[in-house]
Amino acid sequence: MFAVAFNVLELQRERTGCSLGYFPCGNTSKCLPQLLHCNSVDDCGNKADEENCDDNNGWSELFDLYYGRISEQETEFTNCMLGNFSEKCRCKGLELDCEHAGLHSVPLVSSNVLTLRLQINKIRKLHADGFSIYQDLQELNLNYNEITTVSERAFKGLHNLIKLYLSNNQIAFLPPGVFEDLQQVQWLILENNRIQKISPKTFIGLKSVVLLVLLNNSFHQLPAKPICQEMPKLNWLDFEGNQIESVKNGTFTCCTQLTVLVLRRNKINSLHEGAFASLQRLAELDLSLNRIQELPHNLFKQLRELLQL
Ligand SMILES: *[C@@H]1O[C@H](CO)[C@@H](O)[C@H](O)[C@H]1NC(C)=O
Ligand SMILES: *[C@@H]1O[C@H](CO)[C@@H](O)[C@H](O)[C@H]1NC(C)=O
Ligand SMILES: *[C@@H]1O[C@H](CO)[C@@H](O)[C@H](O)[C@H]1NC(C)=O
Ligand SMILES: *[C@@H]1O[C@H](CO)[C@@H](O)[C@H](O)[C@H]1NC(C)=O
Repeated sequence: MFAVAFNVLELQRERTGCSLGYFPCGNTSKCLPQLLHCNSVDDCGNKADEENCDDNNGWSELFDLYYGRISEQETEFTNCMLGNFSEKCRCKGLELDCEHAGLHSVPLVSSNVLTLRLQINKIRKLHADGFSIYQDLQELNLNYNEITTVSERAFKGLHNLIKLYLSNNQIAFLPPGVFEDLQQVQWLILENNRIQKISPKTFIGLKSVVLLVLLNNSFHQLPAKPICQEMPKLNWLDFEGNQIESVKNGTFTCCTQLTVLVLRRNKINSLHEGAFASLQRLAELDLSLNRIQELPHNLFKQLRELLQL
């Protein structure tokens, strides 16, 4: 399944019967516009549109549909299979759940752990080699902590990690190479942080990443160099809610697999004619809520697959 070149939007249509920009109301045949998803109103009538809103605005489910839930195997076991773990946490199979446990640091657990849920805690720093004994780890959730500092070696040794959640922290800087060992990571979620600057080097190692969420950070500009250089499989890129003022022509070269690009809610007033020229697989481009007054002539010329603008 992983080898299939994929398009999440096509998948959505196939699996749900809803057209682009719409999502299904659970198992019913009703489809509603994406805007109503997770708006805290029960638009479906069965609350299906207010489910799965916690981390990724609902599309996490779509990605899970495609990849299959990675923790499927373990969730079959209810008995704890971890040898040793902090008493503040709960253990189920090979998963350790320490949500809202008042933790100030990463807890110790036996090294066979597959899923580490550390969201809603008070962790401030990710130290060098802090996870390096957890070589089997597939999912690491650090959402809603107080992380300001991420060591260059913070994620060393996580060769099997597939999903990394770091949203709702106070990360301002990601050292180049910090993700070097994360060659299996497919999802990298960094929304609601304070990141101001990235370069292609920030993403060294992320060969498998398909989903990168940088929503609600503090970018004023995008790198002039190709952001996808180290992420050849990047499929979905979200920069909503930053302060980006211009899009130059070099940033998205190499992003040949990109299907969805969200630049909504920025301050874009300048777009280079060649800004999107390499995005031949792009199906959805969101430039709404910017300061665009003029569109260069050939801006959308190469976008043969574009379905929604
Ligand atoms: C949809 O799911 C709900 C809850 O799982 C179930 O009660 C209902 O019968 C299902 N409806 C259909 C049309 O399958
Ligand atoms: C369990 O963790 C404690 C505290 O870190 C440690 O002292 C102990 O040796 C560990 N036991 C095993 C079986 O790993
Ligand atoms: C992003 O920030 C805006 C404005 O502060 C906020 O309304 C919105 O809920 C945030 N989005 C997410 C997904 O957290
Ligand atoms: C970007 O545009 C500049 C001039 O505006 C041009 O010299 C350069 O070759 C272009 N680069 C790419 C990758 O298209």
